[in-house]
Amino acid sequence: MKNRIRAQMENKIENEARKENEVRIENEVRIENEVRIENEVRIENEVRVENEARVENQAQNTSEREILRHEEITGDLIIEGIDIVRTFRMGEVEIRALRSVKVKIRRGEFIAIMGPSSSGKTTLLNQLGLLDTPNSGKIIIDDTDTSRMSESVS
Ligand SMILES: Nc1ncnc2c1ncn2[C@@H]1O[C@H](COP(=O)(O)OP(=O)(O)OP(=O)(O)O)[C@@H](O)[C@H]1O
Ligand SMILES: [Mg+2]
Repeated sequence: MKNRIRAQMENKIENEARKENEVRIENEVRIENEVRIENEVRIENEVRVENEARVENQAQNTSEREILRHEEITGDLIIEGIDIVRTFRMGEVEIRALRSVKVKIRRGEFIAIMGPSSSGKTTLLNQLGLLDTPNSGKIIIDDTDTSRMSESVS
């Protein structure tokens, strides 16, 4: 009887120890995941926006592709982003949301901006829509360098 109780106790202790280990392992995985997400963000910021948008466009049917090609040659350059950099400072940490993003959008062109969460899509749109100001780089809209424009409407 004593032996059985002892065996049960040992079993219980072992199980609890295992549970504790499981928790620890789970935490380690979580920490690792955060690091991975951060890396993905950095990689994603490399000019993929423009390329993917164009690839997406070209996957359409032939006539659309022809229109796109036509516009690539003759369409006005309506929005141009040149080496847009936007960083956010959160205390000690600097988040590099946009690292020298280049984008060219022509009149009538359909663009898809794709990327995982936190890759900087909204941040990019905020720069191109003049809702936010980049740390460096230029946004040219209809041949006007927007960094030289005043805040006032007139
Ligand atoms: N105002 C802010 N202050 C601090 N960090 C910010 C700010 N805005 C964006 N960020 C950071 O910049 C990076 C890009 O964020 P953004 O919101 O542009 O990504 P997203 O691609 O639009 O993501 P989602 O698909 O989740 O909408 C993220 O790491 C985000 O935490
Ligand atoms: Mg977003």
